[in-house]
Amino acid sequence: MHVIAPSILSASFARLGEEVINVIAAGADWIHFDVMDNHYVPNLTIGPLVCEAIRPLIAAPIDVHLMVKPVDRIVPDFARAGANIISFHPEASEHVDRTLALIRENGCQAGLVFNPATPLVHLDHVMDQLDLILLMSVNPGFGGQKFIPSTLPKIAAVRARIDAYERERGRRIRLEVDGGVKIDNIAEIARAGADTFVAGSAVYGAGRADDPNRYDSVLAALRAQLENP
Ligand code: DX5
Ligand code: ZN
Repeated sequence: MHVIAPSILSASFARLGEEVINVIAAGADWIHFDVMDNHYVPNLTIGPLVCEAIRPLIAAPIDVHLMVKPVDRIVPDFARAGANIISFHPEASEHVDRTLALIRENGCQAGLVFNPATPLVHLDHVMDQLDLILLMSVNPGFGGQKFIPSTLPKIAAVRARIDAYERERGRRIRLEVDGGVKIDNIAEIARAGADTFVAGSAVYGAGRADDPNRYDSVLAALRAQLENP
């Protein structure tokens, strides 16, 4: 029920294949794939070619978080590159409904991402098209930032909306939180209502770089926090 999705933003890009294989072998559920364009956010990362390169290395879902503007042009490329879930920010698309439909037409699950100051009103007319709601607990663009505490009541508010929706429609929507998730706050984030947790620096910053099992203990510690919230 709980999903842990390490963000490869904090992995070693020189050894990315190994990093992805090792983190899944250590017990991670998804790979969180941060796409930044130096336009919507002030940083530049990786695109569909890198997604395609890591796809054959793992069976786990690839959770693509698009921090790009415009969105639509790149969606089919990520679907072809093997993405399973594609999420985007409503501010980055002129036509949110169209972009959600495009993601699903391309065979992927669709997610909408909310920055810390983005109001939840964007959920009002699109719940039927969502597989995932992603709440940013930092401003997007960089790994290693501090969790913004005002995210906790926002998580609870989205949890209430999802629960009401599930009761009415019988369809599940995941609630993912991204930014500053660590061993010492993941339980509180889960108690607020999240079920899916992105952790970049907490996972990829753990242990000694030359230890192939360096991710086992941090993933076990995150999981233990979720089992005894
Ligand atoms: C930030 C990214 C996050 C980031 C999280 O824009 O969307 O996924 O990698 O990194 P940490 O866990 O270090 O805050
Ligand atoms: Zn992300």
